[in-house]
Amino acid sequence: MPDCEYTPPPYDGPSKETVAALRSRFLSPSLVTYYRDPLMLVDGHMQYLFDETGKQYLDGLAGIVSVSVGHCHPKVMAAVNRQNKRLQHATTIYLHPNIATFAEKLASTLPDGLEVAYFTNSGSEANDLAILMARSYTKNFDVIALRNGYHGGTQGSMGLTSYSTWKYSVPHGFGVHHSIVPDRFRGQWGYDDGNAGAMYAKDVQDVIQRASSGSIAAFIAEPIQGVGGVIEMPPAYLQKSYKYVRDAGGLCIADEVQTGFGRTGDSFWGFQNHDVVPDIVTMAKGIGNGCPLGAVVTTKEIIQSMTESIHFNTFGGNPVSCAQGLATLEVLLEDDMQGNAKRLGAILIDGLNDLQNKYSCIGDVRGRGLMVGIELVEDEDKTPATQLTEDVFELCREMGLIIGKGGYESNVIRIKHPLCVNETDIAFMLEVLGAALAKATA
Ligand SMILES: Cc1ncc(COP(=O)(O)O)c(C=O)c1O
Repeated sequence: MPDCEYTPPPYDGPSKETVAALRSRFLSPSLVTYYRDPLMLVDGHMQYLFDETGKQYLDGLAGIVSVSVGHCHPKVMAAVNRQNKRLQHATTIYLHPNIATFAEKLASTLPDGLEVAYFTNSGSEANDLAILMARSYTKNFDVIALRNGYHGGTQGSMGLTSYSTWKYSVPHGFGVHHSIVPDRFRGQWGYDDGNAGAMYAKDVQDVIQRASSGSIAAFIAEPIQGVGGVIEMPPAYLQKSYKYVRDAGGLCIADEVQTGFGRTGDSFWGFQNHDVVPDIVTMAKGIGNGCPLGAVVTTKEIIQSMTESIHFNTFGGNPVSCAQGLATLEVLLEDDMQGNAKRLGAILIDGLNDLQNKYSCIGDVRGRGLMVGIELVEDEDKTPATQLTEDVFELCREMGLIIGKGGYESNVIRIKHPLCVNETDIAFMLEVLGAALAKATA
């Protein structure tokens, strides 16, 4: 385990068993925990986490892709503590400098024109709002999202999500149509097909023509599907799809909840890896380094349509959240965390490719920067290796490495560290993954 400069104080709170019992009695049973024996985390410092016994873990999932610059980053904490002492709450009915200066800084990271923000408390809310804006601006109703995509759990964003595991049998998703996922590992057009992006995009055109009135409000996609198992849109896919959408009067929404803020290494925003400029960008998770913060950023013209009524969000743009968001963004830019993600992501992918040569169960290694997926399969027919993934996941935890799981069959290991990791962390991660694979496949 890499050294950590921080030593957590002894834990003196309720025992793990008590917490588990309280949780099962007083919290919704729909909340799931990772691991057969759930993990209780009580301390964090940068890329490391500690359980109640003081055991250290390398966080290979960044909370849940929500910690961008590191747990309790000192600069971020200082900004939050300063703000907490002065004023914790003021809504947008008053002026406050934090929301305004944060919005200005955020706009400076986006292409010209994408400059007006609306702050929310979560990614689901941001996506709901983006659809509202698109419908209110275009006066159209139909929306296209992608199968295998995750956009949230509110009734609006659940309709965009295309995963039975996160959907309830209630009316949701009015007017939402799901186009096929451009998955080059499992789909009809593979990595070796240079025309794959264009072929998958044709389905977007087909959905517009056959499932909508021909005029649509919006198309929403993640540049790399996160929960869906790290599936990146193929080259040309977004360019072609955006064109079909705009020809049908629709707006293009990039869901950057996971791919934003430098995580993909090559660009600050995931869409920039695809040479497109969306009309609306939604963001959350890494924006606040772990605090409840989300945002929709769009053009002056599009957001003007929101003046039709008053739109209010009590905590959206809260001074403490904005202090945390602004400090996080400053650290991301000043410490070139995007560059770190690019450099270390390349070392990680190289190491994973070596493991793939050794273990036939690794069907695919994919991703960009510190957004990486390893798809495990049972055989040449690519039967999803769900149980094996679970075993590797548990073994990694025993050895002090936290990773994520994704994909519909839960057979994709998701690696998404806080962006502050170093070479020693990546070497540790590769060693642990190798040992876990060796044991799980023995
Ligand atoms: C791509 C994407 N969009 C939206 C959301 C929803 O964000 P939140 O959980 O903050 O509502 C998530 C959450 O995992 C996500 O991964």
